[in-house]
Amino acid sequence: MGPLTLPAGALCVLVGAPGSGKSTFAARYPDTWRVCLDSYRRMATDVEADQSATPVAAEIQNLLLDARLSRGLTAVVDSTNVFPHVRAGLLARARYWQRPVTAVLFDLPLPTVEAQNADRDRDRVVPLHIVREHHQLLPDADQLHHEGFDAVHPISELLATGTPPLPRSTCMP
Ligand code: CTP
Ligand code: MG
Repeated sequence: MGPLTLPAGALCVLVGAPGSGKSTFAARYPDTWRVCLDSYRRMATDVEADQSATPVAAEIQNLLLDARLSRGLTAVVDSTNVFPHVRAGLLARARYWQRPVTAVLFDLPLPTVEAQNADRDRDRVVPLHIVREHHQLLPDADQLHHEGFDAVHPISELLATGTPPLPRSTCMP
């Protein structure tokens, strides 16, 4: 699967349970596009799952999003984003900077997500009950449109159809 072509300067929000393939998807774009709470928690504490660092990680993420969106640079938010209030904060940021906002919905069946999670390196495997809780919280495409996403791409459709290549320039004029 090639990377999905995103509108110039877009905020792209990945929505999916742990193990559903968000970081694998994000890795198809330039690494500077990706903002990731796990990475900032790890930088703050050496442990990416250390939730005590979520507030500082969120501050770093927000600073980077403002820096990129204000310049018309694309950003891909690589975290679960299954909670509506988290998506609402991201949508508000995109609206503030008047940027298009796209969701990629990791709507894979739970057994697929469980299998992908189980196949990871041991220290990356997320406890099963957390995978299941997050999977249950997944919104559907209609809900994401209703929340205000300009475009919603279910990963099941991207996997089925393939996707066009990235544009040469993704920066706003
Ligand atoms: N994977 C796969 N096929 C895909 C996508 C992912 O086999 N189409 C595998 C990856 O190689 C990885 C696992 O599934 O071993 C989880 O993918 P990852 O991208 O790490 O999932 P995330 O959604 O980013 O998980 P987390 O929220 O825990 O970061
Ligand atoms: Mg990930």
